[in-house]
Amino acid sequence: MARHLITSALPYINGIKHLGNMVGSMLPADVYSRYLRQRGHDVLYICATDEHGTPAELAAKEQGIPVAEFCAQAHDAQKAVYDGFALAFDYFGRSSSPQNREITQHFARRLNENGFIEERAIRQVYSPTDGRFLPDRYVEGTCPHCGYDKARGDQCENCTRVLDPTDLINPRSAISGSTDLEVRETKHLFLLQSKLQHEVEEWVAAHEEEWPQLASSIARKWLTEGLHDRAITRDLDWGVPVPADTWPELAAEGKVFYVWFDAPIEYIGATKEWSDEDPENRDWKSWWYESDAGENPVRYTEFMAKDNVPFHTVMFPATELGIREPWKMVDYVKAFNWLTYYGGKFSTSQKRGVFTDQALDILPADYWRYFLIANAPESDDSSFTWEHFTATVNKDLADTLGNFVNRVLSFSKKRFGDEVPAGAAAGEAETRLGEQIAELLAEYETQMEALQFRKAAAALRALWSAGNSYLEEKAPWLEIKTDKDAAALTLRTAMNLIHLYAVVSEPLIPTTSKAMRQAFALTEDTATWVTPEEARALDSVPTGTPFTVPPVLFAKLTDEDLENYKERFGGEPA
Ligand code: MF3
Ligand code: ZN
Repeated sequence: MARHLITSALPYINGIKHLGNMVGSMLPADVYSRYLRQRGHDVLYICATDEHGTPAELAAKEQGIPVAEFCAQAHDAQKAVYDGFALAFDYFGRSSSPQNREITQHFARRLNENGFIEERAIRQVYSPTDGRFLPDRYVEGTCPHCGYDKARGDQCENCTRVLDPTDLINPRSAISGSTDLEVRETKHLFLLQSKLQHEVEEWVAAHEEEWPQLASSIARKWLTEGLHDRAITRDLDWGVPVPADTWPELAAEGKVFYVWFDAPIEYIGATKEWSDEDPENRDWKSWWYESDAGENPVRYTEFMAKDNVPFHTVMFPATELGIREPWKMVDYVKAFNWLTYYGGKFSTSQKRGVFTDQALDILPADYWRYFLIANAPESDDSSFTWEHFTATVNKDLADTLGNFVNRVLSFSKKRFGDEVPAGAAAGEAETRLGEQIAELLAEYETQMEALQFRKAAAALRALWSAGNSYLEEKAPWLEIKTDKDAAALTLRTAMNLIHLYAVVSEPLIPTTSKAMRQAFALTEDTATWVTPEEARALDSVPTGTPFTVPPVLFAKLTDEDLENYKERFGGEPA
């Protein structure tokens, strides 16, 4: 039994996430966690809301509520959606927690003691009207590169170039709209990443071979461009305060750490939040502090979309290396490309695409979970279209899986009653089927272990299809006319397949899997994994086991449904 620490990129607090966010971080992390738990490993899956920074402050201001209140509400709203998606976090924390504050401040002190932090005076936009400095998005203006007139101080949304607020032409305050702005000098903490370049390079070199190409190529690109020293504090009210014991002057000025400094530390902070809820039984440090890990080392896997890769492969590792304490660093970085909406961008600000709360309004989570994993943007971007979605649901979920389950169980009930029928001993067709199933299951396991989600979904689909082929070949509805025992054997075997599907489909479609499992009145909880060798026999549900016929597992989506979805969300290519 291995120990697996799993994290998915922390969703920003503001706004409900769209399907693209879901498939690029939390959902595959959940699928992988569920799989490893079923295999009997010790898994800790941690996520949290990323709550600091200017977007949260501005959103709270827009709603006219204090930022702490805004974040508390937004956290609960996101958590409700993730529960709806059946994401089985071990803990879903908040980066504004006291635990994260404590650890972030500790990290900063250590970096400082080790000579990796320096105070520097820099020139920043100041607004006399607002009585404050205006960092990042607090300034808007015209992009000096493309002329877009609503560019934000941190980045131009139009040409995507990274900006400094002082770069903007005709700058104005995003709070008051005031154009009476000046540039003043103020002190900030800088993380001297340039001093850590060499160590980060060595660390990446030692790990990248194992990573997917998407992750290692992005890490390489950043290292080639060179690590720059960067400001890790901001003039904001909302954030982890600079510790007064170390920087009294900056603390008195109310400076806080930059959101990208404290966000990844929240992976650790949230683990401590988890542990603090039950300290007798949960030891956060054994997961994160290598000298506390004991004999059973932790394997750490991170999930994220490609825009997050530089922070996780270069920047956060630089921080961790500079601390000179044995904090756990990532072993495997699973990075994703973009899911597009009809080839265009999903856009939170422009409300294009399908948001996770809307998705659950339309259909239960398993429909989405299966579709998204089967089409995960792994080797390339992939495109969401309603046509593709409805066709996939109908073919794979409704026809191949759902219909199989219902057909087998209702037919057996009608002909043989409420218990798994006995019938003839397994014959040549069953031996062949068992071999095929064992092979496909081994393939499924291989792809899961390799975190190849599309291929894992394809193997699962092939397992479902194998049942359909067997049923078509044996045709129990014909067998029953001439040889009742033969028909019973076919149905008994098919029921064993249903039970196997219930167990192995659980990572992708947990709710449906449970309904399938519970169709059989077995004494033990049966979500425990079945190995290919065990699966081969197709005899885990004994003859005589009572069963019930579950309601239709997946509804077939009609042309009318398709038209409705397209009308509601827009279906035209961007
Ligand atoms: N909130 C960031 C985003 O949505 C991700 C933060 S990941 C963390 O892109 F590691 F920094 F927490
Ligand atoms: Zn621009």
